[in-house]
Amino acid sequence: MLKLAVLVSGGGTNLQAIIDAIENGAITNAKIELVISNNKNAFALERAARSGIPARCISPRDYNSREQFEEELLETLLERQVDLVVLAGCLVVIPEKMVDAFKNRIINIHPSLIPSFCGTGYYGLKVHEEALRRGVKITGATVHFVDKGTDTGPIILQKAVEVQPEDTPASLQLRVMQEAEWKILPRAIDLIANGRVEVRDGRTVIR
Ligand code: GRF
Repeated sequence: MLKLAVLVSGGGTNLQAIIDAIENGAITNAKIELVISNNKNAFALERAARSGIPARCISPRDYNSREQFEEELLETLLERQVDLVVLAGCLVVIPEKMVDAFKNRIINIHPSLIPSFCGTGYYGLKVHEEALRRGVKITGATVHFVDKGTDTGPIILQKAVEVQPEDTPASLQLRVMQEAEWKILPRAIDLIANGRVEVRDGRTVIR
């Protein structure tokens, strides 16, 4: 059974998609060991509580230095013997030490088709604003492993979503979540939990 830690910062709809997929059997061989939020007001914490999942807030604001915060985050994951860290709308920049400790064991959902609209500064609504500004007709979402770059790790799954002429950043964000993120994030976890994802030469092979 793969032990997951889900790291969140906000609403937690991706967390909810994972909880639902475990409940309805779309994800097998995995359980959520812990939800961690850097934001004590994140609704994701409430979602965890409602499902009886242990959750805690680890916020940089509560520590004297960034190092202490990062240490606490890593220690918590190690103590709970987490196998896979899932960044589900997590706005914390993942410390290099954590990437080393969890090599190819951290995944992230990004709301575009990487390598478009990704990298430093591309998060939240900004991604969709830029997609609309550029006038792309297709966007989507990507699940990838986390390495030391920003959105540069091996791609696991992607799903395309059509841009509609009347889209606003908010309507596009919602459609990308509904049609892509909530599907491919649980799917990627299920593939990993069942030993079907391998990383070779910086790319994934899915069996
Ligand atoms: C999603 O669009 C995700 O791709 C992005 O932040 C949003 C998180 O939404 N990184 P939620 O907290 O899962 O509802």
